[in-house]
Amino acid sequence: MITQHVKVDSELRVQADKDKLKQVIMNLLSNSVQEMPDGGELRVEALDGDRHVTISVSDTGGGIPADKREKIFEPFYTLKKTGTGLGLPLCKKIMTAHGGDIVVGDSDKGAVFTLVLPKRG
Ligand SMILES: Nc1ncnc2c1ncn2[C@@H]1O[C@H](COP(=O)(O)OP(=O)(O)OP(=O)(O)O)[C@@H](O)[C@H]1O
Ligand SMILES: [Mg+2]
Repeated sequence: MITQHVKVDSELRVQADKDKLKQVIMNLLSNSVQEMPDGGELRVEALDGDRHVTISVSDTGGGIPADKREKIFEPFYTLKKTGTGLGLPLCKKIMTAHGGDIVVGDSDKGAVFTLVLPKRG
């Protein structure tokens, strides 16, 4: 079973193309779910910063070894039988086009991807 926590702060406003941002988040959610075939915890958090808002998606799947953390943003890098390896490169492209970024880190157990977006206004 997958439990989902969504922490929403209605005051957070970002400068972004809604559909593109949705595409990025859907890619991350889909990757996380695929890494937890037997269930786990999927967490989405939005945090307010000085000039940026960060949105993090974390899971309790297999995680990403440190030496693979750059590779996963390269086109066609995939460890999945039916994967194309284009999800994360697209996320990276969309985020940098927004003046933001996507970074991968380590969570207690699993992976965490953090989106950095400029605030609106
Ligand atoms: N949350 C995650 N936990 C562990 N590994 C991950 C996670 N997200 C991505 N990866 C690793 O990074 C690789 C690249 O991800 P990416 O989304 O670019 O491609 P894909 O999911 O393999 O295929 P596609 O998204 O094109 O269907 C994955 O194959 C997987 O090995
Ligand atoms: Mg993917």
